[in-house]
Amino acid sequence: MALRVAILLSGRGSNAQALLDDCAAGGHAQVVRVISNRPGALGLKRAEAAGVPAAVVDHRAFPDRAAFEAALHGALTACGAELVCLAGFMRLLTAPFVEAWHDRLINIHPSLLPAFPGLDTHARALAEGVRFHGCTVHFVRAAMDAGPIIGQAAVPVHPSDDADSLAERVLAAEHRLYPWAVRAIAAGRVTVRDERAVIEGWGPPAGPWLNPAQ
Ligand code: GAR
Repeated sequence: MALRVAILLSGRGSNAQALLDDCAAGGHAQVVRVISNRPGALGLKRAEAAGVPAAVVDHRAFPDRAAFEAALHGALTACGAELVCLAGFMRLLTAPFVEAWHDRLINIHPSLLPAFPGLDTHARALAEGVRFHGCTVHFVRAAMDAGPIIGQAAVPVHPSDDADSLAERVLAAEHRLYPWAVRAIAAGRVTVRDERAVIEGWGPPAGPWLNPAQ
């Protein structure tokens, strides 16, 4: 049976698109709902175009975070979500919500965590002069951008990069990594032990990758 997936987003929804496309192609998971906290989000239109019900839970309509998260939780349980994927969802989620979805809530973040949690990751990576940057899919915990790492994709930083060119390279990697992570979870290959995500059927180890190449 296909894993029932819900996607939470706030904007453009290109990662949601990658998940919608891959779930439709693979049949391993079914995206049953796309929910945005912002009414005008492009991601809502992508859901509609894919024939997936879209909903808005506008945080501004609630008196506080607890009420907003209760509504979000209600919308997720109502659609029978088994896995919730944050895909550019730009609201912090508090401990009660995160704990209610423990090990069933995952996020993609545009850095190689634990480096560069938070915002403006590409500009900060450039400012630090790192030679590799990338993205991380992880289970969500109450601390921001923390939790067992399911997978990461590294991209080289080029000397000519600005934040936009680096973001574009990372985003292309996000669109490969996130669908892979959902496939691994849907196949039952991912478990959390002692706060580490363990993947069955791990591929052969990659060799060292140097930047600049030598
Ligand atoms: C993505 O780069 C995602 O990793 C990032 O927002 C972008 C959303 O793009 N998420 C975060 O920064 C969360 N902390 P998208 O709407 O096109 O998928």
